[in-house]
Amino acid sequence: MTMNLNSLASRLDNIAPFHVMELVKMANALEQQGRHIVHMGIGEPDFTAPPEVVAAAVQAMTDRKLQYTHATGILPLRAAIAAHYRRVYGLDIAPSRIIVTAGASAALLLACAALVEKGAEVLMPDPSYPCNRHFVAAFDGVAKMIPSGPEHRFQLSDDMVREHWSPNTRGVLLASPSNPTGTSIKHDELSRIVSSLRERGGFTIVDEIYQGLSYEGEPFSALSLSDDVIVINSFSKYFNMTGWRLGWLVVPEVLVPQIEKLAQNLYICPSSVAQHAGLACFLPESLAIYEERKAEFKRRRDYIVPALRDLGFRVPVTPDGAFYVYADCSALSDDADKLTIDLLNEAGVVLVPGLDFGPYTAHNYIRLSYATSIENLQEAVARMRKFFDARK
Ligand SMILES: Cc1ncc(COP(=O)(O)O)c(C=O)c1O
Repeated sequence: MTMNLNSLASRLDNIAPFHVMELVKMANALEQQGRHIVHMGIGEPDFTAPPEVVAAAVQAMTDRKLQYTHATGILPLRAAIAAHYRRVYGLDIAPSRIIVTAGASAALLLACAALVEKGAEVLMPDPSYPCNRHFVAAFDGVAKMIPSGPEHRFQLSDDMVREHWSPNTRGVLLASPSNPTGTSIKHDELSRIVSSLRERGGFTIVDEIYQGLSYEGEPFSALSLSDDVIVINSFSKYFNMTGWRLGWLVVPEVLVPQIEKLAQNLYICPSSVAQHAGLACFLPESLAIYEERKAEFKRRRDYIVPALRDLGFRVPVTPDGAFYVYADCSALSDDADKLTIDLLNEAGVVLVPGLDFGPYTAHNYIRLSYATSIENLQEAVARMRKFFDARK
């Protein structure tokens, strides 16, 4: 018997698949035919967990630390994250406010489950990380994507928040540095937004998953602005632990029991092995490796941004974090979607079209992930040069 699609929840209509995955599937099919492809599509560090972290995971298994943990995570890990905030950002965050989760994804899920209800509007910039609007849709809220360009570093401004605020608006969801743009919101702008939200009784969620990969200025967390801000973070990017599914969120003390009961019910707890391994991220040996890798990401950025400009892409704001470049391709093509397909088929290079990140800039922008070696980036640039030269 086949299932009747009419019985599916209507919210699924508001949730789109990732276009990038289609490109990756196409790329894999070409690889199976023997083609060499340079991947700059997926946003995942090419580095994997350092040896101390892997050793800690093996030890956790040997010690049979394999059962459910507390829904909010093991206490030593919450304390280690608090110590990290003290050491890097000079902030005193009570470990009780830190909830360990199954990646930033589960942190976003918990935050949206707690704060978004039917019809609630959540403001976010267009372009944004695709899942953000889908997390809101999953709780029958409305993601209100506000077009934002290079003049605002592709972020929201306080003026935009005030202009788009409606009686149904409940809060804002930002990422800084952002995916897909790698640009951060200015601290004073964020501070104004946080104050506006407080005035209106709304929530501010700031996804700081790429905060550890900020290449300019002093380390900064939105937690320094107010105890009300909800901050999302993860072991996936700076700590190179994507597949381990480990992240966290920091919430105001009053929200802890609410988030805790959601975590208990939605997935019981984050992976025990991953949590014990995560503790080893904060060892001096691991931190030294992370800082070296961060310097390598910065070297890659410093190579690829001028190289893209030289090819004819416009990179209107130099990204200051993450491992993405959001590049305007309108001087090279009038359809970013088609360009990414042609680049894959003719040059063997995977880039992501703007389409995944919102409609506003969709047709003029591509996202490039430089989470791959300099050699691969050089190869991709050479292939793109040949591709564009042939079109002149
Ligand atoms: C902005 C942003 N938030 C959240 C996530 C989800 O990350 P995680 O692997 O921690 O679930 C990603 C992944 O790419 C991201 O780019």
